[in-house]
Amino acid sequence: MADESGFQLKRGGPDVYELCWVRAQMGRCAEELVTAAGVTRGDRVLDIACGTGVVARTAATRSGTAAYVTGTDVHAGMLEAAARFAAEAGQAEIAWLECDAAAMPLPDDAFDVALCQQGLQFMPDKPGAMAEMARVLKPGGRLALSVWKTRAPIGAAFATVLDRHFGAGTTAPWEMIYSLGDRNRLHNLAEGAGFRDVHITLDVKFARHPDPEAFITGAIAGSPIAETMADLAEAEHARLIKEIVAELADYHDDDGLASPAQCLTMTARK
Ligand SMILES: C[S@@+](CC[C@H](N)C(=O)[O-])C[C@H]1O[C@@H](n2cnc3c(N)ncnc32)[C@H](O)[C@@H]1O
Repeated sequence: MADESGFQLKRGGPDVYELCWVRAQMGRCAEELVTAAGVTRGDRVLDIACGTGVVARTAATRSGTAAYVTGTDVHAGMLEAAARFAAEAGQAEIAWLECDAAAMPLPDDAFDVALCQQGLQFMPDKPGAMAEMARVLKPGGRLALSVWKTRAPIGAAFATVLDRHFGAGTTAPWEMIYSLGDRNRLHNLAEGAGFRDVHITLDVKFARHPDPEAFITGAIAGSPIAETMADLAEAEHARLIKEIVAELADYHDDDGLASPAQCLTMTARK
């Protein structure tokens, strides 16, 4: 994995996602999701849409047995990085499986806990994915899943600066990130898949980073506009990053960037 001084990985990829988003925000979110699911020693855990695997690694620490944890994702590059980061963390026994969440080649009733952090909103077949989560859980098994509720200040700052520079609508595809922020729709998806005790809470997760320019550089590199940005002249690239950081002036504290994002977390039982 690239070290922090190499944060200028402008062309993105899973390493940048891990360095940027996982360290600034998703790592703490993973702790909270695993707590919401009540993962305890000996639990068999499935992490769906695992990305670089932070939820799976966190669950493996709580369950005490990495071999009881499986991560799945549709993106082979994410899984390759997930396996590497898990090995670096001493959790090489976590299993990684490349598949669509709506068609997982896993047995029925196999897991105590299913987790899905910020993944469902990207899935084309959401009812199919929820049905699969229910199928692979044992009766009484627990689900904990999170989605962003609304566009966060970071997304708004990106839209203001990048749409102005590259043209209106440039960042429109990113709206998928918070496209499933409707509590009723989440209830319907879970209850339609047969889950019971469905409970949704709203809270705020912070993205925190001591070096806002480094964070925004990484966040851009992990975005769909990474290639376009990376092709800009150095000075132009730096100017846009500074403009985005300036848009986020209200979201700093004495420790650096502290940008909030509203998050819906759903827990349920099979
Ligand atoms: C924002 S990332 C979240 C990754 C990870 N859960 C985390 O918290 O860091 C969304 C992930 O969903 C995955 N994904 C999108 N569509 C999927 C699908 N249909 N089936 C499985 N994974 C999917 C992407 O490949 C990506 O890794």
